[in-house]
Amino acid sequence: MNASTSVVDPRLDGRAVKRIVFDAQTIARRVGEMGNEISRAYPDGHVLALGLLKGSFIFLGDLVRQITRPLQVDFIVASSYGDAMTSSGDVRLVYDPETELEGKHILLVEDIVDSGKTINRLMDLLGARRPRSLDICALLHKHAATELRFPVKFVGFDAPNEFLVGYGLDHAENFRHLPYIASLQ
Ligand code: IMP
Ligand code: MG
Repeated sequence: MNASTSVVDPRLDGRAVKRIVFDAQTIARRVGEMGNEISRAYPDGHVLALGLLKGSFIFLGDLVRQITRPLQVDFIVASSYGDAMTSSGDVRLVYDPETELEGKHILLVEDIVDSGKTINRLMDLLGARRPRSLDICALLHKHAATELRFPVKFVGFDAPNEFLVGYGLDHAENFRHLPYIASLQ
């Protein structure tokens, strides 16, 4: 075990994780509240929850089970050419939803909003598909997003400006399976 590792968990394989920022119970409670908010926000019409892979996969799975109104689910896959810890803003869609977007309430579900570059690009792409409404739901918001051109309508938690992993979030594809969100720094 590395001496700087303060969180002890066999999932970590001895790698340094400084502290748990949001534990599983805290996340579950907040995701339940978000499900209620989202259920109430759409009194009518078709709602499509569109998860941005891969980071949103656990959040989306938990969130949609807390939404008590008719719903469809699909995914988008975007690739961004940045290094492991920052996004470049050069975002490409590598999987396009098969579900029709036109005329639907689209809820773009993101794991975390950092610079906002990914969201900006995706919102432009999705807006062009003529949805009835288009909103963002993010589990975490770093509020470092000076470039973000869109409001994030549903936010789980304000996040510290640290690199976070777990509950879907990765560092070099590791740590996505942690049931909590932890800081690597
Ligand atoms: P943005 O384009 O800078 O807003 O970055 C958004 C994307 O970068 C997210 O969807 C994540 O995949 C990744 N990202 C940003 N911050 C973190 C973090 O703290 N941990 C893990 N991934 C992050
Ligand atoms: Mg990532």
